[in-house]
Amino acid sequence: MVIREATEPEIRTVLGWTHALWGDNRPFEGYVERIAKQMATRWGRTGYHFAVGLVGGQPVTACKRYRLRFGGVPTVGFGAVFTPEEHRGKGHAAELISGVMAQERAPYALLYSDIDPLYYIRLGFQPYPAYWVTATAEAGPVPFRPLAPYERAEALAIQLPGEFRPDRSPDYWDYLHERSPVELYAFVPDGTIRGWVAFEQEEDQLWLAAAGYDAEPEQFWQGLRALTAQHGVPKINGWGPRVAADHGYAYEVVKSPVPMIAGENLPKAVTWWGLDHF
Ligand SMILES: CC(C)(COP(=O)(O)OP(=O)(O)OC[C@H]1O[C@@H](n2cnc3c(N)ncnc32)[C@H](O)[C@@H]1OP(=O)(O)O)[C@@H](O)C(=O)NCCC(=O)NCCS
Repeated sequence: MVIREATEPEIRTVLGWTHALWGDNRPFEGYVERIAKQMATRWGRTGYHFAVGLVGGQPVTACKRYRLRFGGVPTVGFGAVFTPEEHRGKGHAAELISGVMAQERAPYALLYSDIDPLYYIRLGFQPYPAYWVTATAEAGPVPFRPLAPYERAEALAIQLPGEFRPDRSPDYWDYLHERSPVELYAFVPDGTIRGWVAFEQEEDQLWLAAAGYDAEPEQFWQGLRALTAQHGVPKINGWGPRVAADHGYAYEVVKSPVPMIAGENLPKAVTWWGLDHF
């Protein structure tokens, strides 16, 4: 099987395969346009491509290929791994994943499994712990305010101790924002920026997309409950660290999609955030 970056017509073919599954009920052209917009962001132009496996010149399997970094270490990310039914069970997807890993020569690889993680365990990946956290709104002082664009680089560099997630350069952040239009707030418990939160206002809740802080967790998590009350919704929920459970949050282990990572000497993760999910 030949493995290489997909051409534009091949990307269209691949999106034709995956539209029913991952098109979010958009019409096909809308789906194609959405992906094209993400690929055209400054980060997307080098960070986001499709890889295809070809047999006899025809695509038989495909995936998205992301060029990420974890703590500065090059990491290849995989998304939307797909083989059309008539080509399944011949090892094409497995060959594509290991082929792209070899081509990228990245020490780490990352994906989010929608299927039984055993499939990826056989390819050398291991599941990482991830949690859904939920808290009810509680009125109180709100130590948050909207983050100004010029404060972004400084604020987003703040992360939880031991947190393991793709490095978020301002360009990568713009790409994430193109995909998911979150609001960014600064955590300012004492007048200075000690953290941040990204969330989406939904009808009946705030969706917690990602956050970072280097302050008392109690202050941060209580503050989020107050921010939720301020937004007039009964709860906040999303991916988060287990430590949130000590501060009034309920949590459950995420069963799908399961973050999985491959590589030598992997750091221990304390959490995953849904914002980087692909
Ligand atoms: C999963 C998928 C990419 C595998 O493609 P493939 O080229 O057939 O992969 P391989 O030949 O390397 O492996 C085949 C194995 O995939 C595994 N597999 C397929 N679907 C699976 C699922 N839903 N759960 C767990 N394992 C699955 C089976 O173990 C299968 O082995 P079998 O042939 O003995 O039944 C393909 O089934 C597909 O496109 N599925 C729909 C999209 C999808 O769910 N993608 C995964 C997103 S994380």
